[in-house]
Amino acid sequence: MDFSERSFQLFSNAVYVLIMAATLFSVLLLLSSIHSSGGELRFASYYGDHQVLQKSPQRAVLWGFGPEGAQVTVSLSGPEKQKTSPVTVTEGVWRVSLEPVQAGGPYSVKAASESSTATLTDVFFGDVWLCGGQSNMYFKTSQIFNASEELALAARYPYVRAFMAALNMSDIELSDLIQVELPWTVPTASSVAEFSAVCWLFGRYMYDILQYPIGLVESCWGGTPVEAWSSSRALQQCGLDRSTESPSPKDRNSVLWNAMIHPLLNMTIKGAIWYQGETNAVYHQNEYNCSFPAMIDDWRMTFNEGSGGQTAINFPFGFVQLSTYQKHSTDDSFPNIRWHQTADTGFVPNPRMQQTFMAVALDLPDLTSPYGTIHPRDKQDVAYRLALGARAVAYGEKDVAFQGPFPEEILTGKTFVNITYSQTVSVTQSKDAFEICCSEIQAPCGSQSQWVPAPIMQCGPTTVQLSTSLCPVTDEVVAVRYAWRDWPCAFKACPVYSASGILPAPPFISNCYQEKRKIWKRN
Ligand SMILES: *[C@@H]1O[C@H](CO)[C@@H](O)[C@H](O)[C@H]1NC(C)=O
Ligand SMILES: *[C@@H]1O[C@H](CO)[C@@H](O)[C@H](O)[C@H]1NC(C)=O
Ligand SMILES: *[C@@H]1O[C@H](CO)[C@@H](O)[C@H](O)[C@H]1NC(C)=O
Ligand SMILES: *[C@@H]1O[C@H](CO)[C@@H](O)[C@H](O)[C@H]1NC(C)=O
Ligand SMILES: *[C@@H]1O[C@H](CO)[C@@H](O)[C@H](O)[C@H]1NC(C)=O
Repeated sequence: MDFSERSFQLFSNAVYVLIMAATLFSVLLLLSSIHSSGGELRFASYYGDHQVLQKSPQRAVLWGFGPEGAQVTVSLSGPEKQKTSPVTVTEGVWRVSLEPVQAGGPYSVKAASESSTATLTDVFFGDVWLCGGQSNMYFKTSQIFNASEELALAARYPYVRAFMAALNMSDIELSDLIQVELPWTVPTASSVAEFSAVCWLFGRYMYDILQYPIGLVESCWGGTPVEAWSSSRALQQCGLDRSTESPSPKDRNSVLWNAMIHPLLNMTIKGAIWYQGETNAVYHQNEYNCSFPAMIDDWRMTFNEGSGGQTAINFPFGFVQLSTYQKHSTDDSFPNIRWHQTADTGFVPNPRMQQTFMAVALDLPDLTSPYGTIHPRDKQDVAYRLALGARAVAYGEKDVAFQGPFPEEILTGKTFVNITYSQTVSVTQSKDAFEICCSEIQAPCGSQSQWVPAPIMQCGPTTVQLSTSLCPVTDEVVAVRYAWRDWPCAFKACPVYSASGILPAPPFISNCYQEKRKIWKRN
């Protein structure tokens, strides 16, 4: 072989290699283009093995991705059998809603097209609750009082299943989660340890009552304001849609709504629980009486729409009223947020906030919490009170007491103020939990008047009598407030509870010239 022959040989080998490489490359291109147009059939990120889907009378919605134009049929096998009629993948997405399925399982759910299938196994039907908010919802079961006892119980609740969205934000509304933190799991001590304590305890207490599967979807992030969890539509209601002053990226308007709530809208849920508001004590505090109810309204509307009407338009929404915080400044920010959490009514449900329930938590302080006083470790009582609210409001149990005592009448005399409560009360002495506003003029409590303590003098089954002895004799009582402090009492030792001693009276403020209800009377 001479040199030219050799170089020709080399040249043709090189051409051959090139041609082969080009062929391989175009095959790869073709494959990847098929892949990017959908490829395999799959479920959206938050469907998975061990999941709980919403039971009857609602229909569970299932959706996912697939190759454009493919025909997808979903079949259910287990205690009941079902097969949906085929749907066509459009813009990469397929979606079906099942016929209502009774509580129970296990099921396998298979989505099948001509060329591929995706299957979920060990699926149960029950009630799905969404758990949202900031750090007190994020607070892990491993961090609470009696954590080891609680974690030891986890394995006894195989039908309470947990799922957690990852902490992600987005500037646009996403259709699927960016990432999943905890895929649906059968509870173990180690998975529950990392899961939201309030969410877990609520789910397990509800299971104790309902005795059917409960699905828990945790989507929350510490330190976040309500604005981050609200759509711009909801923020607009309160004039907050143009606000730009937020302290950190994850706190910006709508970024968590976009990434961590919007993707969930098409899943059918029973209801939601929420523990948030601490951040709004220092951020748009005065607007929280608007922004919080507006977010609830907007979630209800969009979850209803997203699920094709399956999630109730007024789905039950429970929340925790702020607990305590020992901060260095003294101001009324915590009492104001607690009040705003009820749309300035003091109790829920009320006409502005229907189908809601509230766990009062201001009597559960924790001075030595290693996570800071803002993170009290008793989440058992918080979740228990939420569960009472859910039983009454979400499940319609008529004989479940879930609200603490609230004033129905305020009677002022020369030397006393009598407060009549909506129910029998259990009262302990206090010199300063009640305060009265004394004014020289007949005007709402303001700069011309002052708050002074009003010691409890005596009480009847439904009444508390306060002394006005600390008011100047020439003044008139124009307002009364109760527990109006960041930290109003010691652990479970506030002055007013329900007769059973379980439900604390929520804080209130009532101004005789501004009160919407006609509750003020003169003796
Ligand atoms: C989503 O959150 C996870 C953890 O919560 C994080 O590791 C990941 O980087 C986030 N992804 C984006 C795109 O922000
Ligand atoms: C909300 O609270 C602020 C501040 O206390 C008050 O000025 C405003 O009137 C309240 N708005 C509503 C809708 O109740
Ligand atoms: C979710 O529901 C909304 C409202 O019906 C719809 O616009 C959206 O396309 C749905 N997303 C998916 C992925 O089905
Ligand atoms: C922790 O356990 C002790 C002993 O059983 C009990 O007295 C206490 O109430 C529990 N604490 C909470 C917050 O559940
Ligand atoms: C005020 O309350 C006290 C204690 O319950 C009761 O004895 C008294 O009769 C009440 N006064 C009026 C005028 O209702």
